Amino acid sequence: MGEDESSILVMKLLHIVGARPNFMKAAPVIHVLDHESSVHQMLIHTGQHYDANMSEVFFRELDIPEPDLNLEVGSGTHGRQTAQIMMRFEEVVLENRPDLVLVYGDVNSTAATAMVCAKLWIPVGHVEAGLRSFDRSMPEEINRVITDQIADVLFTPSRDGDTNLLAEGVSQDKIHFVGNVMIDTLIHLLPKAETHWETDQIREWRERKYILVTIHRPSNVDEPAVLTEIMKTLGAISERLPVLFPVHPRTAKALKRMGYTKKNSNFHLMDPIGYLDFLALQQNATAVITDSGGIQEETTYLGVPCLTVRKNTERPVTLTTGTNILVGQDMEKLRIEMDRILSGESKKGALPPLWDGHASARIAQIIASYT
Ligand code: UD1
Repeated sequence: MGEDESSILVMKLLHIVGARPNFMKAAPVIHVLDHESSVHQMLIHTGQHYDANMSEVFFRELDIPEPDLNLEVGSGTHGRQTAQIMMRFEEVVLENRPDLVLVYGDVNSTAATAMVCAKLWIPVGHVEAGLRSFDRSMPEEINRVITDQIADVLFTPSRDGDTNLLAEGVSQDKIHFVGNVMIDTLIHLLPKAETHWETDQIREWRERKYILVTIHRPSNVDEPAVLTEIMKTLGAISERLPVLFPVHPRTAKALKRMGYTKKNSNFHLMDPIGYLDFLALQQNATAVITDSGGIQEETTYLGVPCLTVRKNTERPVTLTTGTNILVGQDMEKLRIEMDRILSGESKKGALPPLWDGHASARIAQIIASYT
């Protein structure tokens, strides 16, 4: 990546990544396009996530090349972060004049860079288009709607994505149902994750039963009363089965502000962990409790029961076909559903269509024929 290409027959393609969930989506697309001689790729990291355990470790484990540029925007309010990304990315676009910019998922980096492109008439491709929670209080939902209105090529992971886009007036010829790129990465790296049990951080859990937790949504962590109830319930669950909770920086800061101290030695709070360790822990977990989007999908693929601490999901296929159950912020429901799982009555799921490890190859084929 990064060398100058002079041939007009070569498409100049920019990939945008910024936050943790972007990395596992971009990786397989970058890898498959590496074999496409008609495409010259550049990778731009906005720097939205900057801690080594939120970014660097993923580049290493997913074998993503060094970014050609890091915009180093860092954290800030939504307005500030979005504006910083737009200001810095506009210069990159003006200098490089790409033929196509690929954006991933629904984070601030996704919508901010798509907006810059739209104003400069640079075509945008959106990987993971069409997902809707229909809950505009979530910043991600705003990012999804904006990005999809702007994008010229929309790659959907599930059929509900196509339906949502058509309902919003996106024309059918822009929409491509390709499947789930995150599952491409999972399938590719699952064998390697299984060898990762030797790492110090997770070794002791290999032969043990546990529940894996991730909670980081603003709606769950920014309000102390809500987070207190969640932590209380997780603490109670850990009295029955150990709970492992790699804590996102947003959640860590909220817990610190609250002066939280855990009372049960079976409740293990840890620093954020890398992709391979997390995948190994997920596959082996008795159940996963989460508010993440991607983890709802990964547990569905792995057939692991998932309880989602949200009132809605933009990934309904994980409910209708997969192993996911929404419990909202109702901690009684979380306890009841966990009881069911622990007594062996967990929901059995199946695989959604085209979650087969080849979504990135389908995207590459469409891009290669894009003019
Ligand atoms: C972002 C995404 C969210 C995604 C999540 C995954 C948006 C609107 N949200 O949320 O969809 O699920 O990433 O992690 O884009 N921080 C650090 N180190 C870092 C990054 C963040 O300490 O490397 C802290 C900072 O205090 C920051 C806070 O986490 O203010 C939140 O970071 P931000 O990027 O604003 O949003 P996330 O909550 O990470």
